[in-house]
Amino acid sequence: MQTDSGANQTGLGARGDGPREISFLDPESGVQMVKMGELTFPPRKVWIKTFGCQMNYHDSERLLSHLKDLNFTQTQEVDDADMVLFNTCAVRDLSNNKFYSKLGNMKHAKARNKDLVVGIGGCVAQVEGKELVKKYKHLDFAFGTDVIDQINDMVYRTYAGDSKFTINSWDRNENFSIETKITQDSPQAFVNIIKGCNKYCSYCIVPYTRGKERSRKCAEVVTDIKRLVEYSGIQEVTLLGQNVNSYGHDNGENLAQLLLELEKIDGLQMVRYTTSHPYDVSDELVAVHGEAKKLSKHLHLPVQSGSNSVLKRMLREYTVEHYLGLVEKLRKAQPEIVISTDIIAGFLNETQSEHQATLDLLDQAQFDFIYSYVYSERAKTRAAALEDLLPKDIKGERLREIQAYQLAIQAKLRAPLVGKSFRVLVEGTSNMKGIKKWKGRTNCNRIVHFLPPAEDRDFQWHWVDVEVLSATALSCQGQLLKDWGTRLP
Ligand code: SAH
Ligand code: SF4
Ligand code: F3S
Repeated sequence: MQTDSGANQTGLGARGDGPREISFLDPESGVQMVKMGELTFPPRKVWIKTFGCQMNYHDSERLLSHLKDLNFTQTQEVDDADMVLFNTCAVRDLSNNKFYSKLGNMKHAKARNKDLVVGIGGCVAQVEGKELVKKYKHLDFAFGTDVIDQINDMVYRTYAGDSKFTINSWDRNENFSIETKITQDSPQAFVNIIKGCNKYCSYCIVPYTRGKERSRKCAEVVTDIKRLVEYSGIQEVTLLGQNVNSYGHDNGENLAQLLLELEKIDGLQMVRYTTSHPYDVSDELVAVHGEAKKLSKHLHLPVQSGSNSVLKRMLREYTVEHYLGLVEKLRKAQPEIVISTDIIAGFLNETQSEHQATLDLLDQAQFDFIYSYVYSERAKTRAAALEDLLPKDIKGERLREIQAYQLAIQAKLRAPLVGKSFRVLVEGTSNMKGIKKWKGRTNCNRIVHFLPPAEDRDFQWHWVDVEVLSATALSCQGQLLKDWGTRLP
């Protein structure tokens, strides 16, 4: 198999003994071609649409990296594409629906271009791939979350004329071993350290779409990140997992240990990790938040609800008191830490007083920001087996109330940022009322916008110091103090 290291990887669906990609220059046309088995692949374009969480975006990058070996380059224009891939999310109805409407549109695209290949991957494909391939005539193939590394075999199969198939098997290998693939020209990289989730919260589809927890070995992750820093110019990594705090439990290792190892990597500036489950935050990990200099001073710690009875129905395995105790310990260990969370509004038969308890928790915890969602019933989950008598409009009202309540807290929390200065890594520009501004992310994950001193100066991926001039609940505006360039001294 062709991997960067040639290592025998056992990751997201190791490839079998089938044909491999061989790149060559066509002597007649002078065009770079790829031969795989019986087929020759000319340069082609792939358009990929990703829904869902960072893990899915990370998987899309892995797909693109493999497809490059098969002579595909990414296009941002769906009309230019030879192949369209959807990387889907099943976590809520809304994400599902967005995908279904886009998939419906592809029917017309395929009518215009009969050679267009359409594939779906990700979490919806894992659980419903077979039915979808049957139902949608214009869908060629579907693949699950654990066979990402087999994408070129699947594309080969499609171009060989064998379309209408689904591959959604689980990688049964106990050992989870991969090498991170990056396709973007940026100093930030996602690094998958654990896959799957064993928690089975009663509302959540993820354990069914992502399978059993399996961690990469600590030594492998360290070598992988060292390589990214040394050879790919990576300066910031985000360690990824559905439940990243469980990292290493299957191998007798743990996240705290890994974070301390990453401290030693020269040239690595920042380490983030996501997403955490409060049950698995150990005292050792809390202590690392105080000690580790490279660790971000932001932690996303989803609480879901401020009511103990709701948390019990959600099977979250902790109480509000435990959660608030954790927040206190983290703030003691690292006084500058900022904490954000996820909230589900209107969970199964939630009462008014249970909802009120969530508003009270927002007051007590003082989150820097929250992601909040209306509860969305998912087939197969334990909560879906119970009848939900709470009307939809009340769920929506509660969501809006939670969001408004949090915005007021956020505005108050962020006002004191004015006058303070922060070092940010500039991620790009944004258009604010017709004015181009640069934006960067602080260590604690807040976005700060600033005006360039001259229109034509390029700050992309520079480290800069900025002073905050104004702050609202949702954004900070600042002015440039110092430009360090793309490398810190
Ligand atoms: N592994 C992470 C989150 C995964 S899903 C964790 O345990 O926190 C991301 C967020 O989506 C969850 O935190 C939860 O707030 C939300 N979510 C998951 N299932 C949901 C559902 N059925 N309805 C509404 N929100 C849901
Ligand atoms: Fe879903 Fe719970 Fe696992 Fe998070 S911990 S992915 S919410 S089952
Ligand atoms: Fe969605 Fe799958 Fe992520 S369901 S949130 S894409 S793990």
